[in-house]
Amino acid sequence: MPPFSAVFDPPATEPLLAADSAEAVASEARAGLTSTPKRLASWLFYDKAGSHLFEQITTLPEYYLTRAERSIFTAHADEIVQAAAGRPRQTLTLIELGAGTATKTGILLSAAVQLQGTVVYQPVDVSVTALERARRNILSNLPGVAVRCQVADYTREPLPENRLPNTRTLALYIGSSIGNFTPAEARGVLRNLRAQLLPDDQLLLGTDLVKDVPTLLAAYNDAAGVTAEFNRNVLERLNRELGADFNSEAFLHKAIWNAEESRIEMHLESTCAQRVHLPASGAGRALTLRFAPGETIHTENSYKFTRSSVESLLGDAGFRASRTWNDSGNLFSVTLATAV
Ligand code: AVJ
Repeated sequence: MPPFSAVFDPPATEPLLAADSAEAVASEARAGLTSTPKRLASWLFYDKAGSHLFEQITTLPEYYLTRAERSIFTAHADEIVQAAAGRPRQTLTLIELGAGTATKTGILLSAAVQLQGTVVYQPVDVSVTALERARRNILSNLPGVAVRCQVADYTREPLPENRLPNTRTLALYIGSSIGNFTPAEARGVLRNLRAQLLPDDQLLLGTDLVKDVPTLLAAYNDAAGVTAEFNRNVLERLNRELGADFNSEAFLHKAIWNAEESRIEMHLESTCAQRVHLPASGAGRALTLRFAPGETIHTENSYKFTRSSVESLLGDAGFRASRTWNDSGNLFSVTLATAV
């Protein structure tokens, strides 16, 4: 182990800068809403209100994903961390892509602290608010964990480069976040990650599994309407941040299963003929958007996997799957893979 001070040197105290800047929101909204068919990127969901709604979603009876993954960690965290550390055991540094508030990660961090005494944890996220909550969460519950936040878009930007000698990186990409990407994008994200790892570094990938359609649909069409609110919040966000004038109540939440693509799709469907204004901004001049009755905005893809589709995705990106854990209902899976 390096000297204590090397591990626990506080990170440079530069202010955290948001990667989801006003310019990024404006240019994404303009590009998506002037395309045919209209679309909005799913990262736009996660402003403060949207992140809060997503946290509510994770507790809904129909939304099994979070509970299933947590149950895998609860049952197997020691095994997962030991398998990742290898034999002879190496000290692990945990990096988390799209960390959010890092609630489930605590289970793995606690297992890592048990195994090695201390652990360096580097959450990477575009949301400063989420990172600050992650940091507070971990610091108050898990002494022995050194938290180093990085605000970055892990799909494009490099990961923190401050590897300690004789350590192995365990990259966490959990919560089925990979499911928001098309297969080609997902390969790109994992290749970008692989390019920043060394051979034998580890990846823990959480993926939602293909299952009966009613279960899938219910998870994205909850009875309480929280997912509908989460979906419409993207329009409210454009009103708040760009001064658009969406009447979000004139759009219906739709979640459908696309069997050919193996994904749930979320859309917002215009209930009537309507116009929406987007004021001029740095990204371009004022726009009037026209919606026909029944016209949709595609807001999210949530891909569902099989064991073999996970393994081939990993293989294509330079990883070899070594172990897989499922929850007792086989709803969700967590795969450990080695960088080759
Ligand atoms: C955070 C991408 C895993 O796809 O299930 C939840 C987001 N969308 N309800 C998912 C989401 C609608 C979620 N992920």
